[in-house]
Amino acid sequence: MADTHRTHLGSHALHPETLMLGYGYDPALSEGSVKPPVFLTSTFVFRSAEEGRDYFDVVAGRKAAPEGGAGLVYSRFNHPNSEIVEDRLAIHEGGEAALLFSSGMSAIATTLLAFARPGDVVLHSQPLYGGTETLLARTLAPFGIGSEGFADGLSAAAMAEAADRARARGRVAAIMVESPSNPTNTLVDLAAVKATADQLEAAQGHRPVTLCDNTLLGPVFQHPLAHGIDVVLYSLTKYVGGHSDLVAGAAMGSRARLQPIRLLRGAIGTQLDPHSCWMLGRSLETLSLRMRAAERNAHQVADWLAAHPRIAAVHALGREDAGPEARRVYAAQCSGMGSTFSIVLRGGQPAAFRFLNALQIFKLAVSLGGTESLASHPASTTHSGVPAELRQRMGVVDGLVRLSIGIEHPEDLVADLAQALAAAD
Ligand SMILES: Cc1ncc(COP(=O)(O)O)c(C=O)c1O
Repeated sequence: MADTHRTHLGSHALHPETLMLGYGYDPALSEGSVKPPVFLTSTFVFRSAEEGRDYFDVVAGRKAAPEGGAGLVYSRFNHPNSEIVEDRLAIHEGGEAALLFSSGMSAIATTLLAFARPGDVVLHSQPLYGGTETLLARTLAPFGIGSEGFADGLSAAAMAEAADRARARGRVAAIMVESPSNPTNTLVDLAAVKATADQLEAAQGHRPVTLCDNTLLGPVFQHPLAHGIDVVLYSLTKYVGGHSDLVAGAAMGSRARLQPIRLLRGAIGTQLDPHSCWMLGRSLETLSLRMRAAERNAHQVADWLAAHPRIAAVHALGREDAGPEARRVYAAQCSGMGSTFSIVLRGGQPAAFRFLNALQIFKLAVSLGGTESLASHPASTTHSGVPAELRQRMGVVDGLVRLSIGIEHPEDLVADLAQALAAAD
């Protein structure tokens, strides 16, 4: 039988781009089909009562999974389409294991609920995606789980101060960061996050789990696990799905770290369905190609915008005008700028709206990371729930427009932006 989990040819390590095409799937188990079928089944037949008992012991967490993984039981716990994609995603991220979820928010919510208890506090970077911000403030707070934010993720001192404030309120169960942040592309120093977790462990006798939302750059341009983060979280709806046609999420890390999350996912049913898993598997084949092509376009577009007189600021990663700390952290953590960034138009919201209404190629929609270019106005949409004063402090000003650059021809994107900026005058 083929070794479906081969990562090397002799001593040569195979690259993710190669492994995304076949890793974890054995055609011999599916009539020789070169691509995995969609396993539309809710339950799996045991060969014996003993096998059923043994498989259940594993999915219920009473026994460790044997080499080769847990047996298939019931599709809320595991199913072949999720296992194939989980194995491939873990390879791309550089993690031991991955878990798929029905959305990015269900990955984040299931993970936080797996580690935080009433009386605990979640220490977090700011800004976070609006849905995560709302989850902490409106859903977890009434269950007695507090949150404490730090705005400057480049400063170890600011992080330590926020950690002290958090510890004064209760046990710090988790440090949750988003780097780069959506929509302003601010970075969080992941080495400082690890150091803060070390300090909290010494101070409170309990190590907070460290979590990083890697949606904007991963898994091609950033690998937080290599910088000491425990669990990486994703909205796979974005770049990994990549075609704006599915909603999904993931958590990745060591098997041991994922175990409480896996058990809670099975208990509350936040697993992803077989069809969406199959679509993700297909998307993984082109992930690196798509992200790199979109990034090349984004460079070109960001450079052009930065030179335009109507543009007051371009918040894109790795630019020369970022401060020295941002440049240091970018060089240490990121291997590319990705292709989502924001711009600030002179003339505030009226100018931003005229510009958005004039775009012909860019589509006016929230979300990001698809093959098509999208533009949105965060202050009136994704971040409209954030109080105006906090929005201002986070840099989500009224003239700010977020662009997600796709894989169209870059000259066409520049032509569209040029005519829309002219219309914004
Ligand atoms: C950075 C980030 N994290 C998480 C989410 C939530 O993901 P989903 O919409 O798949 O639930 C989003 C969605 O926009 C996001 O941008």
